[in-house]
Amino acid sequence: MNIALDGPSGAGKSTVAKALAKRLGIIYVDTGALYRTIGLYVRNKGIDKEDEKSVIDCLSEINLNMEFINGEQIITLNGVNVGDTIRTGEIAMYASRVSAIPEVRAFLLETQRKIARENSVVMDGRDIGTVILPNAEVKIFMTASAEARAMRRYKELVAKGEDCTFESVLADINLRDKNDSTRKTAPAIPAEDAVFLDNSDLDIEGTVERAIEIINEKVK
Ligand code: DC
Repeated sequence: MNIALDGPSGAGKSTVAKALAKRLGIIYVDTGALYRTIGLYVRNKGIDKEDEKSVIDCLSEINLNMEFINGEQIITLNGVNVGDTIRTGEIAMYASRVSAIPEVRAFLLETQRKIARENSVVMDGRDIGTVILPNAEVKIFMTASAEARAMRRYKELVAKGEDCTFESVLADINLRDKNDSTRKTAPAIPAEDAVFLDNSDLDIEGTVERAIEIINEKVK
């Protein structure tokens, strides 16, 4: 079974996808981590994230591997586990820019499809239902208001000890939404056959329950 879970940044996709994977006994695939890994490489090489040509040129130097150990996704970049180094606001911005480049998306396409061919997955991303897995049995487009998403992300960052303000997190979310939804290649928009799940007023459990209902309706 393939479940595509798309939606904007900070809608809680990863939390919900993890819970769904556990409940259903399938693998959780975080595709944003792949774009973040490319962003990390670009940043570490000192390449300007707006410099498309240099980003495209450096792809040939990248050997990226994604595997699952005890259900946990491990990404290696030229043989080194990237771990949490991709989980910063700075790398999120690099990821947002590089993910708008068609060559970057093409570079990561087969890695994503192969995992879904070989396993039952719940795959979280932006274009899973539209581009990566157009035949997924279940497609959910999960969203929440920009303010609700910014508040959740802000609390997460504060808990991690990052120095930020709610306003700066909201501005980042708005900027990333704009980049992600207006880019020419694979914009973050719902597939025609996706079911909307707006969780502005739902907690995690409520969102997971609603997602399970959607899945049960689709696969019965
Ligand atoms: O989900 P995330 O915040 O880890 O994603 C990081 C960036 O990567 C985000 O700005 C959008 C982009 N992305 C994408 O374009 N397509 C995906 N399938 C997943 C993420």
